[in-house]
Amino acid sequence: MGGLCAGEKDGHVVKMQSGKLVRLRDTIAEGGFSTVHKVTDTENNTYAIKQIICQEDSMAVAARAEIEVHNAVSHSNVIQLLDWGEMANTVHPSAVDVWLLLPLHTRGTIFDVLLSKKPYPEVEALTLMEAICSAVSAIHEAGYTHRDIKALNVLLGSSLSDPLLMDLGSCRPLVVEITSRREAMLEQDIAETNSTASYRASELFDVPSEITIDGKVDVWSLGCLLYALICGHTPFESEKEGFMKLLAISGDVRFSDGVECSPETRAMITSAVMREPAERFMLTTLTEAITTQRSLLTRDHRYAQ
Ligand SMILES: Nc1ncnc2c1ncn2[C@@H]1O[C@H](COP(=O)(O)OP(=O)(O)O)[C@@H](O)[C@H]1O
Ligand SMILES: [Mg+2]
Repeated sequence: MGGLCAGEKDGHVVKMQSGKLVRLRDTIAEGGFSTVHKVTDTENNTYAIKQIICQEDSMAVAARAEIEVHNAVSHSNVIQLLDWGEMANTVHPSAVDVWLLLPLHTRGTIFDVLLSKKPYPEVEALTLMEAICSAVSAIHEAGYTHRDIKALNVLLGSSLSDPLLMDLGSCRPLVVEITSRREAMLEQDIAETNSTASYRASELFDVPSEITIDGKVDVWSLGCLLYALICGHTPFESEKEGFMKLLAISGDVRFSDGVECSPETRAMITSAVMREPAERFMLTTLTEAITTQRSLLTRDHRYAQ
C-alpha cells in the first residue's frame, strides 16, 4: 500500500472540496491504509492531511464513510475534519485518493508517550480517560461505535484534559444485530481488519451466530487503554509472550507487582473487560466511576501537598 504513494511527493498540490488548495510537505506517518502528511495552504497555514488510497470501490466507500462519521460528530476531544477531497491517484489513475484535512497536532500520540516515558500516574491517566470517554460517548450518541480505540489513535492536544480521539475509519453502526453464521463471519472479518487485537473485545474474536454487538465493544477497549496508561502495556500482553488471545477472550486481567493503582481503578478496569458484554460496565457507568475516582485522587493529592 505504501508504494502507491510514490507520486505524492513534497510539493504536490491537492484540491479540497471547498476549492482550498494545499501543498504536501513532510510525511508524518505511513500506515496500512493511509499516509498522513503535513501540508500548507496558500496563506502558509499548516495542517495535517490523511491520504487514503482506494484501490477498490469498497475502499472508497469506507473512506467516504469516515467523512460521514466526522460530519455527524462534533466534540472537543474528537479530531475535527476541516475539509476533504477526492482525486485520481497520480501514479495509479485507477486508484482514487480520498483526502481528509485535519488540524495539525505536533505533540504525537499517547502511544508515543508510553514508548518514550514511564506510564502515567493514576490521576493523570484518569483525567485523560474522562475526556476520552466523553469523546466516545459523543460518537455513540451520533449512532456509531469507534471500534479501534487505542493509544495510537489518541493524539495529544495542549493539556491532559485535551486528548483527541482520531481515526474514525473503523467506526461501525452503534448496534449490529447478528442473526446468522454468515453475518457473524463478516463481522469477525471486519474486526480482524479494522481493529487491534490487544484492544479487541472478546465477542469480536469468535463472533457467535446470535448476538447484538454494541457500544460495549468500545468499553472493553477503554478498559484496555486505562490499563495501558497506568501499566505501560495492554492487559492481555506481556513482554515475554506478546499478545495472548486466550487471555483476552477470558477477560482475565492481572496487574504486575509494584503497579501503583488504587483498588477502585483496578475494579473498574476489571468491570470494563468482563468477558460477557451483559456483565460489562456501560459506558456511562465507566465514565462515572472514572470521574468519581479522579475527583477523590485529585482531592487527596491536594491535601497531601
Ligand atoms: N491531525 C494530525 N496531526 C498530527 N499527526 C496526525 C494527525 N492525524 C494523524 N496523525 C498521525 O498519523 C497516524 C495515522 O493516522 P490515523 O488517522 O490513525 O490513520 P490510520 O487509519 O492509517 O491508522 C497517527 O497515529 C498519528 O501519528
Ligand atoms: Mg490509526
